[in-house]
Amino acid sequence: MELNRRVAASDASLTGDKADFQNNFKVTPWEVEGDIDYRRLMAQFGTLPITSEIIEKIKKVTGEVHPMLKSQFFFSHRDLDWILNKYDEGEGFYLYTGRGPSGMVHIGHAMPWLFTKYIQEKFDSKLLFQLTDDEKFLQNQDRSKKEIEHYVQENVLDIIAIGFDPDKTKIIVDSRDIGHLYPLAIEIARRITFSTAKSVFGFSNSTNIGMIGFPPLQAAPCFLPSLMEGRPTPVLVPAAIDQDPYWRVTRDIAERLGYYKPAQIHSKFLPGLQKLGKMSSSKPETALLTTDEPEIISKKVSTAFTGGQATISLQRMLGGNPLGCPVFWYLRYLFDTEKESDERLLKCKSGNLLCGECKSDLSKDAQTFLVEFKRRREKARDRADKFTFKGAF
Ligand code: TYM
Repeated sequence: MELNRRVAASDASLTGDKADFQNNFKVTPWEVEGDIDYRRLMAQFGTLPITSEIIEKIKKVTGEVHPMLKSQFFFSHRDLDWILNKYDEGEGFYLYTGRGPSGMVHIGHAMPWLFTKYIQEKFDSKLLFQLTDDEKFLQNQDRSKKEIEHYVQENVLDIIAIGFDPDKTKIIVDSRDIGHLYPLAIEIARRITFSTAKSVFGFSNSTNIGMIGFPPLQAAPCFLPSLMEGRPTPVLVPAAIDQDPYWRVTRDIAERLGYYKPAQIHSKFLPGLQKLGKMSSSKPETALLTTDEPEIISKKVSTAFTGGQATISLQRMLGGNPLGCPVFWYLRYLFDTEKESDERLLKCKSGNLLCGECKSDLSKDAQTFLVEFKRRREKARDRADKFTFKGAF
């Protein structure tokens, strides 16, 4: 079997400790803090930038360049070129992504999912969508099983509302579908040492042993398609870059198990409304939730942090700092065209645009988007059965 080539000598060789070294930011699956330097993060994680050649390759299939690629919201990858070559040769790929159901969904979560839906449509791919209810129960000492179960039900509605193809999408809920994951998880678990897990994930003596044993369960769906199809099957994982530690350990052991290494396409984070950093549903004032009413959206946006000056006259005189402004980035990544966004940037920098105008644009666009999303979410209530994972398509 031809296996995919390595990006770095060892994907798991970069440790969580080293990733924090000399940084004023931190990115792990459970914590994202500070001002993220994405170029540096890529170098530390050992991932590669998405080049214009790769974008051209995608365009050959899609006929256009998706706005999230144009704006470099998706900016980094492992083996994306390899999986596109496989596709060219007639070997299709599965998509795999997920959600840790610890709260309601915000539009930051929805971004990698919207992109995944687009790739599913254009590449005609099957998708496994994992809900790690076990991870979130183990991670949050203050959450009951009942609460997590409630968020599973709620988050499933969001996943369906994204518009994935019901004939090509299965939702795996770890506690419900454990029988399908467990045989793979133990194969994976016995090949990862505590020393590797500790350095990649930053586990310490005070981490509960459930969390320490969890990573193989998030790794398992990378190999499940090969079992389902009865042959080694390429898998592409679209997600923000915080999930990368999982893929590093998974890639390191894939070949020993006889599977392809899973490929990744990494996104940046949609920042929190109050300042740059990650939007977080556990801090609702920083996040636009998919269930927020229009008045709430308007209120959250009106109190957002911006890159503007303290007064209107200073703004007119000195101009603003759009690159340090979450309102600018929301509009760039989600709602403005490239041309509109470039114009907004110039007008802001030259003092010809005030923060109130950008906030008003964002408020209107986000309300339109989320009102429609909520309508789709309501319609999803009686469709959940179609997406239940029963071990096969
Ligand atoms: P979770 O629930 O933390 O995040 C779900 C997805 O959203 C991405 N994400 C964001 N993207 C853009 N802007 C943000 N502010 C932002 N915050 C989160 C995450 O990278 C993720 O893609 N353990 C995982 C669940 C999981 C998973 C997977 C995720 C299981 N299997 C496979 C991705 C791929 C988790 O807790 O994700």
